[in-house]
Amino acid sequence: MMAKNPVVSIASSNVPVALLKREREPTMRPLIAGNWKMHGTGPQLPEIAAIAAGVRSTAPTADILICPPSTLITRAVQAAAGQIAIGGQNCASEMSGAFTGDVSAEMLKDAGAAWVIVGHSERRQHHGETDSMVAAKAKAAWRAGLLAIICIGETDAQRRAGNALTVCTDQIAGSVPEGITAVGNAIGYEPLWAIGTGHTPSLAEIGQMHLHIRQCLVARWGAHGRDVRILYGGSVNPANAHSVLAVPEVGGALVGGASLKATDFEAIINEIPAHV
Ligand code: 13P
Repeated sequence: MMAKNPVVSIASSNVPVALLKREREPTMRPLIAGNWKMHGTGPQLPEIAAIAAGVRSTAPTADILICPPSTLITRAVQAAAGQIAIGGQNCASEMSGAFTGDVSAEMLKDAGAAWVIVGHSERRQHHGETDSMVAAKAKAAWRAGLLAIICIGETDAQRRAGNALTVCTDQIAGSVPEGITAVGNAIGYEPLWAIGTGHTPSLAEIGQMHLHIRQCLVARWGAHGRDVRILYGGSVNPANAHSVLAVPEVGGALVGGASLKATDFEAIINEIPAHV
């Protein structure tokens, strides 16, 4: 069991309170995004068809996205039947060239993707992606006409040392390029220690971090930073989705394991609080 995380205080901010306290725009629907990671081949496509069928019948007040492996994108778009968006999990920053094994944002778009995740901690950890590389990938996504989920998040050691907020401040500064707009982007806050572990931060910790991220976005981009959706990711499941999604400044969820089965993912979609 994870020890209680140290309380970290939000650094004082010069952000005008009015910018933070205004009502949520009606157009700012929550985004519930599934990241299939390196899971899924053809036989899993019926899960996407089932999610799409569920969305068609329940018409949730949220945008729904599944990011399968690149090999499934075109078939996933067909299975989604226009009911849910399909996205990639990573893209190269270059448009084309001698980069064996890489997939450009333009290629994802051509395959039918509408979104791409950039800067996931698994890319940062296992592929050495730095903040500036992530920023270049986000720009590549925009160049190709894709929407981007830009991921940030602290490690367990960073949180225990009381540095969670500053780590995320720095990641936003380095990974989110100039030109962000609310329409085309989301920030994915995924504490590394919560990914695939069954442990989540307390609701107060999630709220504190999401408010902090909002403050960072507004401090840098003013009105443009106000409506960017901030997704929480890390062990979201049907049992905790309602309370997590009800936390102020949580604009949706980035779901790993629980997005692989339509029944689990639909259960999460059905937990979106009415007022969100
Ligand atoms: P889990 O939901 O499996 O913890 O994964 C979270 C994640 O990394 C989504 O991008």
